[in-house]
Amino acid sequence: MVAKTLISAAALASVAIAGPINLARDLKEYKTDVEIHSSCNATQRRMLEKALADTFEVATFAKEYVVTNGAEDPVFQKYFGKEKGAYSTVVGVWDSLLTSNKEGVLLRCDNPDGNCGQPSWRGHWRGDNATSETVICDLSYTDRFYNEYFCMNGYTVAGSPLGTHWSIDLIHRMFHVPAVTNELVGHYSEDYASALELAEHNSTYSPMDSDALQAFAAHVYAVEVAKGGDACIGQPAEAHDDSHAASSSASAAPSATSSAAQSCHTHADGAVHCEDDHADASTTAAAQTSDANAGKDCHTHADGTVHCV
Ligand SMILES: *[C@@H]1O[C@H](CO)[C@@H](O)[C@H](O)[C@H]1NC(C)=O
Ligand SMILES: *[C@@H]1O[C@H](CO)[C@@H](O)[C@H](O)[C@H]1NC(C)=O
Ligand SMILES: *[C@@H]1O[C@H](CO)[C@@H](O)[C@H](O)[C@H]1NC(C)=O
Repeated sequence: MVAKTLISAAALASVAIAGPINLARDLKEYKTDVEIHSSCNATQRRMLEKALADTFEVATFAKEYVVTNGAEDPVFQKYFGKEKGAYSTVVGVWDSLLTSNKEGVLLRCDNPDGNCGQPSWRGHWRGDNATSETVICDLSYTDRFYNEYFCMNGYTVAGSPLGTHWSIDLIHRMFHVPAVTNELVGHYSEDYASALELAEHNSTYSPMDSDALQAFAAHVYAVEVAKGGDACIGQPAEAHDDSHAASSSASAAPSATSSAAQSCHTHADGAVHCEDDHADASTTAAAQTSDANAGKDCHTHADGTVHCV
């Protein structure tokens, strides 16, 4: 007893010397919302506000689905596997996205790094230049869709690009901002099919895999909210695709394929990450834009890699 008291007294003393962590602290300023920078004009601001509302709606449904249906749920297991830690990790990721302090987290419209000039870039994370900032390029405003569009015009979760909708695209972009999930979420798969493959055979990283999380959120929204059923989930592109068959495998080389149907972004480490855009870029984008490269969507990661979706 005496010894224990002495030890804790000594421990307290050493803490006091090391730093006053037990003193009451001023709380940091807390912001619930992502800021839209002054470089965005009235139209861009209105569209981004709607896109952010869509983002929070989708993330909220994703989290509610997980906490309601639990870790045994087949949709949960399809994307995140069966490991013990998956449930709390996934709940934590959605909760972090929704409630982490958004102080400094910013969407801007002024192309400060010059990346929007690259063909087909729809936006990028600023990486080391400003880790909490995301640039949204002009192309985003012409070929992203709001949540109401889910399951319309041939869109399927499995067969269309993950970033078809603003909501899923911004979820992806928010995952790159370190403050949002404390850098937990990363890219462990390359596309929808490889995310499912990971969940089935090697699911340790599935709960923190950006694509798995995005696809799960899209799946839940498509079924629970858009009421699209199996038809809106669809099949991974490989199963029925022709033209992309060669490049759509899980290990598709990041940059070798020159296809306009690829979407790339740069990671903070400098790596370029590209994904096949097996979407109906023709169906969806053509309606609104004539851009021939609309299938490509890239952003830069903090490590400098470019990731295209
Ligand atoms: C906002 O900027 C976009 C892209 O530059 C432009 O097309 C649009 O006309 C602008 N809107 C307003 C209200 O200035
Ligand atoms: C950071 O800024 C430099 C210089 O403007 C630019 O070359 C680089 O591409 C930027 N990095 C990112 C991730 O945009
Ligand atoms: C499992 O996935 C991780 C992360 O993608 C990868 O590094 C590892 O090589 C994979 N292991 C097997 C056996 O495929």
